[in-house]
Amino acid sequence: MEARYKSQDWQEKMRVKIDVNNMFAEFIGEKHGIKVSEVDGMAKEVEKADRSIKKQYKEGKLGFIDLPDRQKEVVNEIEDFVNKRRGDFDNFVILGIGGSALGNIALQTALKDPYHNLKNKDVLRIYVPDNIDPERFQSLLNTLDLERTVFNVISKSGSTAETMSLFLIARKAVEEEVGSDNISKHFIATTSRNSGYLRIIARKEGFKMFYIPDNVGGRFSVLTPVGLIYAAFAGINIRELLAGASYMKKIASGTDIWENPAYLNGVLQYLAYQKGKIMSVMMPYAHSLKDIADWYRQLWAESLGKEENRKGEIINVGPTPIKALGATDQHSQAQLYMEGPYDKVINFIEVEKFHTDLKIPDLYGDVKGVSYLRNKSLSDLINTEKKATELALSKRGRLNNTILVPKINAFTVGQLIYLFELQTALVGELFNINAYNQPGVELGKEYTYGVFGREGYQKMKDEYHSRPEKKGKYIV
Ligand code: PA5
Repeated sequence: MEARYKSQDWQEKMRVKIDVNNMFAEFIGEKHGIKVSEVDGMAKEVEKADRSIKKQYKEGKLGFIDLPDRQKEVVNEIEDFVNKRRGDFDNFVILGIGGSALGNIALQTALKDPYHNLKNKDVLRIYVPDNIDPERFQSLLNTLDLERTVFNVISKSGSTAETMSLFLIARKAVEEEVGSDNISKHFIATTSRNSGYLRIIARKEGFKMFYIPDNVGGRFSVLTPVGLIYAAFAGINIRELLAGASYMKKIASGTDIWENPAYLNGVLQYLAYQKGKIMSVMMPYAHSLKDIADWYRQLWAESLGKEENRKGEIINVGPTPIKALGATDQHSQAQLYMEGPYDKVINFIEVEKFHTDLKIPDLYGDVKGVSYLRNKSLSDLINTEKKATELALSKRGRLNNTILVPKINAFTVGQLIYLFELQTALVGELFNINAYNQPGVELGKEYTYGVFGREGYQKMKDEYHSRPEKKGKYIV
């Protein structure tokens, strides 16, 4: 039987769209709304940005653009490996951080049962500690049967302190459990083919290795082995995931702003930023997309938060991404979005059809304040609440848009990933910044290396130890 993602009909039914009505003056008023003419006025800049993206791509810099279509061998290798090894394990643990963890968490929350790890014994339980909190990691190691556990150590640089320290701890714990001759089967290394220390250790130990292309940055890497190995182990259809990304790549391939959802939304976010809407809230109304919002937060923040533009001028630019969840955060953040400063764009994600629904029982018909809920469904309630919030925001002149997802599956999640990545690339061009580096996070890392005595970081150690002494009177 032909895979569903190959059918054009099914693809069209599953197409992710973006509704930007409420970004415009026509819907939210002149004071805050964007004018159609302002979008049209961006045409030349978008063409220039698109030329720059294509140029960088041709120079081999923007590897994320190739991922949807050019990984046949990688996919075969991953599937073969997973088919052979899947039965050996009950637990799959990802040791990675930032771009090496968040995509995996997003895929897990979006595409696996919310209580996956609690399901019957045959299920491969998935864990992503994503932190170096000792209590959390100790508890994980105590909980797992390490003989039935595989760790995927993911680090593109192969030297990230958080990932490497968890790896060292896990390696020792595994050795104690299975003996030094059997360690290699319990570790996979996902790293750069050409550089880094993880690669050296993995080769020495004989770990199975998968490679992250050098031209794909961490936060753009979920569709490389970084996310695909986990996904394949978890039973997610990685071919469908990539097909979804590829479908969005086709949809978002032109330079006509009105036809390309990534460019249209990118332009609107950029124009909104120029009008002082410097916060970008991602608010899915589906719990399963909550960690897509978290992944997006990193993508947007690390890519667009920059001090300098490409000319070396200080611009200190970048919209602040905020993650929120509908309907949960209607009861925590919505008040601020409705009445606080006019500095936000609210990006909703609406799921048209949930995989399952719950009918609210026909009970307490005589209790007025509750009886209106009878015989309605939870999916109807959550989507009505979303539409009601959208209208309330619009009436108050608050910019908002909605990404419409017909159903959550690997194909639509693949579309979302590519849509957000391309949109980020475009906005980076419009700000004329390098969206692919993260110089700001280096300094903190370097002080840590210095304090821990890493070779080559003596200067940082000295700087750290000669920092201004804190005053007791300010610690109360
Ligand atoms: O997006 C990025 O580049 C970062 O968030 C990295 O993914 C993160 O710092 C982890 O780096 P590495 O994969 O090299 O361990």
